[in-house]
Amino acid sequence: MPRRNSTTRPRKRSTSTSSFGTSGRISHDASEYYARAFQPEIDASNVGEEHAAPGESLDRIYSHSSENMHELPDGSVHLMVTSPPYNVGKEYDEDLTMDDYRGLLRRVLAETWRVVAPGGRACVNVANLGRKPYIPLHAYVIADAAETGFQMRGEIIWDKGAGAGTSTAWGSWRSASNPTLRDTHEYILVFQKPHPKTGFGRRAPAGHENTIDRDDFMESTKSVWRFSPQSAKRANHPAPFPVELPRRLIQLYTYTNDVVLDPFMGTGATAIAAATAGRRYVGYDTSAEYCAIAEGRIAEATLGI
Ligand SMILES: C[S@@+](CC[C@H](N)C(=O)[O-])C[C@H]1O[C@@H](n2cnc3c(N)ncnc32)[C@H](O)[C@@H]1O
Repeated sequence: MPRRNSTTRPRKRSTSTSSFGTSGRISHDASEYYARAFQPEIDASNVGEEHAAPGESLDRIYSHSSENMHELPDGSVHLMVTSPPYNVGKEYDEDLTMDDYRGLLRRVLAETWRVVAPGGRACVNVANLGRKPYIPLHAYVIADAAETGFQMRGEIIWDKGAGAGTSTAWGSWRSASNPTLRDTHEYILVFQKPHPKTGFGRRAPAGHENTIDRDDFMESTKSVWRFSPQSAKRANHPAPFPVELPRRLIQLYTYTNDVVLDPFMGTGATAIAAATAGRRYVGYDTSAEYCAIAEGRIAEATLGI
């Protein structure tokens, strides 16, 4: 019997999905799973083509509604990252009915679908609202994005930990009468416009490169992310997200020189994350005041780059 050494060691066989799952995932063959009737068809018949955005339309924030992003050609954005207004009475919120609110989000999702390139991704940060009853906004965004044509890639739970604040809105104290859950998390819902050739993959155009390092990749591919929220006071905005949120998504889902869109840009976190990572950005916000604050923050963050 030959002794095992580096030349005679049998090659490790790739795993395949068993009915009990498997722990080995490298070279995993999941073709049987994806061939099952349960699996939805990916329709890439209406994804259009990729087009380059004119240079002068990029690295800019437009002060009008993102229901119409006429500055951007079809298929010119590689990643959308945003957090929509929540219609909860912040200074920029109108008092919309649920139907009107979802109508606004659907129009922005439809316009996002138009400007996103085949294979491009769209990530929506959203929190659920209220208690009487609880309003699962994340479920509505998932339904409306699917209706628009986006396929879902996953759902990240953003655990805000101690930064979520020490809310005492627990309903009834130590009584089954009316205890209420205190959310310490938000969602980041990840969608994709299908790619006609690869379905879910996206190849880099010439001159575009990966920049994610090993530790970031290991952390960002987990479905629970932990980092602190952004202080509203410091960002001069009632509902900012921290630059860390778009930074992780940009590292994970884009190559250098890709175009990153935020249709509800607020004070510019997405643009800062894009510009400091060697990506191009484009944003929209109906508030001229927030656009000006965003431009100031971007200039400060990119000074010397
Ligand atoms: C939740 S905030 C985004 C905050 C942003 N992520 C940040 O870090 O500052 C939503 C933003 O959407 C803007 N907004 C509301 N309706 C809009 C519309 N139709 N088009 C573009 N922006 C809009 C608001 O002015 C607000 O700044």
